[in-house]
Amino acid sequence: MRRFGLLVLALGLVLLIGCGGSESGSDVTTVKLVVWKPNNPAAWDSALVLFHAQYPNIRIEREIGPHSSSQFHDLLTQKLRNHDPSVDVFLMDVVWTPEFAQAGWAMPLDSLFPPSEQSKFFAGCIQADQWNGNIYGVALNIDGGILYYRKDLLDKYGFSPPVTWDEMLDQIDTIRKKESDPNLYGYSGQFKQYEGLICDMLEFVHSNGGDLLKPTMPETEQAVAFVRDNIIDAAAPRGVLTYEEQESLDLFKEGGAIFHRNWPYAWSITKESPIAGKVGIARLPTFKDGMHTSTLGGWRMAISQFSQHKDAAWQVVQFFTSPAMNRHFAILAGRAPARRALYSDSLVLAANPHFAAMYPVFETATPRPRTPIYPQISNILQRSMQAAISERQSDIPALAQDADTKIHEAMESIQ
Ligand code: GLC
Repeated sequence: MRRFGLLVLALGLVLLIGCGGSESGSDVTTVKLVVWKPNNPAAWDSALVLFHAQYPNIRIEREIGPHSSSQFHDLLTQKLRNHDPSVDVFLMDVVWTPEFAQAGWAMPLDSLFPPSEQSKFFAGCIQADQWNGNIYGVALNIDGGILYYRKDLLDKYGFSPPVTWDEMLDQIDTIRKKESDPNLYGYSGQFKQYEGLICDMLEFVHSNGGDLLKPTMPETEQAVAFVRDNIIDAAAPRGVLTYEEQESLDLFKEGGAIFHRNWPYAWSITKESPIAGKVGIARLPTFKDGMHTSTLGGWRMAISQFSQHKDAAWQVVQFFTSPAMNRHFAILAGRAPARRALYSDSLVLAANPHFAAMYPVFETATPRPRTPIYPQISNILQRSMQAAISERQSDIPALAQDADTKIHEAMESIQ
């Protein structure tokens, strides 16, 4: 399939170059695009080649920042705070829109991105991109947390993908005992102190009926205790406390974990790994009936208010968020398209057969809190949750009380 994808890409490239016209270097506008370090660099490199073939009068200069959402946020906001005119287009995490809108960093796109066009995207993406009645980004992809599992091992012991977290633990217990492989862990996810921790914890907390913004709610505290007592240094190695997406996926793809929580892109990487052909995908388990939760993630392109090349910048945004590029990134990088129509595209589904079943999961994914001070709130929760899950003796009620007080103080400061 990968070869087929590349063939499609190469064909597109030839066609584009063929029709691209012969305009030469005069009047070339340089657009600076700030992005994170991608998981599939080839997909970005080839997208840039396609762009330059189609737009000979625009040259994209790419600045590649850190992969981690939290670190990328720091790099980008430093530039925007300085009104750096060299930034034209940037990637924005789904949780940043209120902050970037309120600070006046991202340009409102309402006149360019009308409701008739917006309706082609997942509603969750559009809502996330709006703040105070304006829209500030165009989604590239949608992310939702999903459960990857070793289908070969579950099949071997007659298990179906677990519906509850407890069922997952029971399956892990049985499989690990029977396999008696000291290098086989039960679970791998993202528990380092960074934005990914919030995504993973939200899924445990909400699937127990708790609320991230209510740390002292019994349902929230129970879910945190469950992770501390059953996941860290139990189903998962203690090392997950330092894992982002990449490290947690490495463990799974090398055959070191039975279950793995990640975003849709991980599929394309497992397909090329030692466990290729042995992987299944399901909804994340839940504590309570009907409360399966998947955190809404994903990235959009936005234009800096300080850009001197807003027209060319919009061409870049339009190109990268087009149906053709949604398809390109779905096939070559396993990115779940933000445009709904792509879920009935045969090439997209051939490369990502699970997209059909996961569509309702993406459609109902749970947003993280929406506030212009999101990074501050996330930071309070990251510290509190990491302290809570790192030590078996942690005082969860005291940590929750402290986080609750800090959240209230932060929220009051912006009233
Ligand atoms: C993914 C998601 C993003 C999230 C991040 C956390 O990139 O798309 O929304 O914040 O992971 O690590």
